[in-house]
Amino acid sequence: MGKQIWKPGNMLYPLPAVMVSAGDREGNANILTVAWTGTVCTNPPMVYISVRPERYSYHMIEESGEFVINLTTEKLARAADYCGVRSGRDVDKWKECGLTKKKASTLKYAPAVEEAPVNIECRVVRIEKLGSHHMFLAEVTAVQAEEAYLDERGRLDLNRTGLIAYSHGEYLGLGRKIGTFGYSVRKKSAEPQRDRRQRGKIKRGKQTISGKKRKH
Ligand SMILES: Cc1cc2nc3c(=O)[nH]c(=O)nc-3n(C[C@H](O)[C@H](O)[C@H](O)COP(=O)(O)O)c2cc1C
Repeated sequence: MGKQIWKPGNMLYPLPAVMVSAGDREGNANILTVAWTGTVCTNPPMVYISVRPERYSYHMIEESGEFVINLTTEKLARAADYCGVRSGRDVDKWKECGLTKKKASTLKYAPAVEEAPVNIECRVVRIEKLGSHHMFLAEVTAVQAEEAYLDERGRLDLNRTGLIAYSHGEYLGLGRKIGTFGYSVRKKSAEPQRDRRQRGKIKRGKQTISGKKRKH
């Protein structure tokens, strides 16, 4: 079987399906779901979201220059889908999804979604009018992390929150852990190596013993 060559299209998956919250100067706030999003720089921390100008949220983000990326979990999957198929022009998505507005620590207009385990507060630095979507390039101004997911050393156990991915039209749980960053080149921990050496010794020992036995 070969591969079919298709015309250019969007086939980069999996992606997050985040809930982006925004607000305007009149005090209205809305949520839309965004999959065209990502991290673009570590220092300064920068992200992007790409939004169609016809979305109700677009002008909120454009005018306020602010938005919050709220990470989505299995518990929030239904709300994330709803916020991606209904417009704030017609419904109050906060109310319909039972979501709570939380004050962002560094932003004036965009509220965060309280129920999300992590809220990434963003200030727009550039708008790139790419075509169907305009890309809001933004600097991260603060991150709010749910304390329930912090370990005793204060580190966020993000993968315990039940994060979801969006792939080719489907929402998926993240499944089992396969490795950790750099595991392909990392030396095995001392303990298993000792175990292996120990096993080798035992094997050699047995061979020696059996050799001796054979001698007898
Ligand atoms: C999983 C998913 C991903 C989406 N990703 C995007 C996106 O990246 N950019 C975008 O403009 N719209 C995206 N949408 C569509 C908007 O979320 C949708 O049109 C929403 O109703 C807009 O809300 P608003 O009119 O209240 O702003 C996505 C929808 C879903 C369900």
